[in-house]
Amino acid sequence: SEIPNDAFWLFGYGSLIWKPPPHFDERVPGYIEGYVRRFWQSSEDHRGTPEAPGRVVTLIDRTHWDTLTDHHSSPTERVWGAAYHIPSSKVAEVREYLDIREINGYSIQYTPFHAAGPVANSTGSGPIQCLVYIGLPSNPQFLGPQDPDALAAHILKSKGPSGENKEYLYMLETALLNLSEESSDEHVSDLVRRCRSLESERGSQSFDNRAP
Ligand code: BEZ
Repeated sequence: SEIPNDAFWLFGYGSLIWKPPPHFDERVPGYIEGYVRRFWQSSEDHRGTPEAPGRVVTLIDRTHWDTLTDHHSSPTERVWGAAYHIPSSKVAEVREYLDIREINGYSIQYTPFHAAGPVANSTGSGPIQCLVYIGLPSNPQFLGPQDPDALAAHILKSKGPSGENKEYLYMLETALLNLSEESSDEHVSDLVRRCRSLESERGSQSFDNRAP
């Protein structure tokens, strides 16, 4: 049986924010609710390798909030990102691209997306259903709670075919800040601060080492 290639909206909350899918005819900044973004996904194919996996973001849904041990955000807060409209003629290609990209194990859900307002877009006023890749504890690459300092140190030492893991973190923070006036994410900014402070500690250590 044929799966119809109907046009759909895709919600990006990770690298899709600054690295769009290969085909889309509209991009709308906005948010979803009922999820929390965390660096709890192991990356063996982009920001790490199978031998030394990096860390990328995933979304935790309300049925798994009992796994949230840190309290950077209340689960009722918004997860900001960008929604992409994939036209029917490009659905097959984009699905294939995403399947290759996300071979490392996310699950698909559909959830209402709210455009940052007021913006001119084809969605009209109300929310639109969006496809979103989330992390279920049953996904092999889902890690669960990470100690924030250990997580920052891990991100600093990881790299993969898509580049350094810390670049992903820094790009994500910048991309989020550029979406709207209220789209920062405390979990992301907290990790950036930890990484920058570890980097500057290391910088001053190597400086000390060079001193007579
Ligand atoms: C993202 O970049 O938003 C993303 C894409 C696929 C899976 C998870 C996140």
